[in-house]
Amino acid sequence: MRPVLLFCTGPVLLTGVLAGLVLFSRNPGGPRPPMDGVSSDASVGSILARSCEDCHSDQTQWPWYGYIPPVSWMLNNDVQQARIHMNLSRWNTYSPDDKRQILTEMAAVVRNLQMPPARYLYMHPGARLTRNDIAALYAWAKSERRKLRRQPASGKS
Ligand code: HEC
Repeated sequence: MRPVLLFCTGPVLLTGVLAGLVLFSRNPGGPRPPMDGVSSDASVGSILARSCEDCHSDQTQWPWYGYIPPVSWMLNNDVQQARIHMNLSRWNTYSPDDKRQILTEMAAVVRNLQMPPARYLYMHPGARLTRNDIAALYAWAKSERRKLRRQPASGKS
């Protein structure tokens, strides 16, 4: 290949390959219920689905601009971090202690308006929590914690 041609196509090819690699590893685990056993309360379920699931589950809906580096790397990092803290698709794998801990954090971050992050709301205004959403999540988290407290503290549920 002539050097000039390589010079022009190289970055394009590299970008394509990297984007492909990122895409490939994105939503692991195949089809899985978006929020496996998190809440039996449909209204809470729909709030979580609307405002949290994109980052905190294996069911991320990647926007078109999320496939283009470097935005794709930023979003990918965000979602990886978010899933480490709380993955709603893997709720059933958490111990009762972990669940209680996460529920406490959820109540705190929604009350303090820390979640969903402002940078996300900018592109997804529909994900903004209303006062009622926050109240509903808060009350739900509290009642779930109470239920979990009645279960034995160790082992998987
Ligand atoms: C843009 C993606 C995104 C969305 C949407 C989002 N989060 Fe997060 N969340 C993150 C990231 C990234 C972290 C970890 C780093 C941080 O704390 O900023 C996190 C951390 C958390 C934590 C752990 C906080 C701690 O103190 O360790 C909780 C709990 C949480 N999010 C709950 C929620 C809830 C509830 C929603 C929906 C109302 C939500 N998040 C929506 C990205 C997101």
